[in-house]
Amino acid sequence: MKPRALRRGSHEERPVAARILDGRAMADRWRAWVKAQVAAFRDRTGRVPGLATILIGDHPASQSYVRAKQRACAEVGIRTLHHHLPGEADRRTVLGLLGRLADDPEVHGILVQLPLPPHLDEEEILGAIPLEKDVDGFHPWNIGRLGLKGRDPYFVPCTPLGILTMLQEAQIPIAGRRAVVLGRSRIVGLPMALLLLRLDATVTVCHSRTPHLAEVTRQADLLIVAAGRPGLVRGEMVRPGAAVIDVGIHRVPDPQAPGGYRLVGDVVFEEVIQVAGALTPVPGGVGPMTVAMLLVNTLKAAQRQVEGSASPWPEPPPATAPL
Ligand code: GUN
Repeated sequence: MKPRALRRGSHEERPVAARILDGRAMADRWRAWVKAQVAAFRDRTGRVPGLATILIGDHPASQSYVRAKQRACAEVGIRTLHHHLPGEADRRTVLGLLGRLADDPEVHGILVQLPLPPHLDEEEILGAIPLEKDVDGFHPWNIGRLGLKGRDPYFVPCTPLGILTMLQEAQIPIAGRRAVVLGRSRIVGLPMALLLLRLDATVTVCHSRTPHLAEVTRQADLLIVAAGRPGLVRGEMVRPGAAVIDVGIHRVPDPQAPGGYRLVGDVVFEEVIQVAGALTPVPGGVGPMTVAMLLVNTLKAAQRQVEGSASPWPEPPPATAPL
């Protein structure tokens, strides 16, 4: 990263604020690109990419995430079929539905929104999604292939893929850099670490049992924060000039804000912006790119199933892909 200019303060010289990585603007360009690709696919094949979404239970945040994904699909011409099952749905019901969707030629992608109710075994449910329809990339085979250099998965999970795309578009180097990932979830932390490793970063994964967290995070050129704890990362935990990616999103009460709450991330934005070289905001950072990458993955699922090939990596290269 380039050395940054210094701002003259009253007591000392401080670095100027970080570059903000605008996920909304990037996602807009990717959605426009997917829309054009969907239209071209339709012209070539007479088919429309189809995504089945499954929500089990009434988790309010999950309901709003699934709605946002459906809306984004509709905007780019991807057909969605939504299945909302009651929270007490048993494994046979869920597996039966997955079996029907697996056999349905109009369904190219299947997304089971997480978290599942506790009586369902995540491994069993996600393992029942056919590999070529696993647009979330959560099947153990897809996760495993992500960790094997020289072997591609069919799909890369949407949030890590969105983060990679943001880093690439911002021309933030990965190979040879020290990356620290906070969190080890199936949705973000674990696949993010595997992805950075295959791109030749030196990767450390931290979690709730990691002692002396700040000592580790201060080593990072790239700090990916997906810990699920509002305000976990303070300014003094960040190496000057580091790229900081905030995956957290939390509602905190705020009587001044419309609706009585505002959204914050895992990072204390006002502090980290003074230290980092680049930073994603919340909202408007990683979230829109996650949804955009789901569209990319669904398009690729349809291309692979109907036309026979598709790479799991964003194509054409991200620096030139957005229209
Ligand atoms: N829950 C939170 N994020 C995600 C996601 O990206 N995919 C699914 N399936 N569930 C989630």
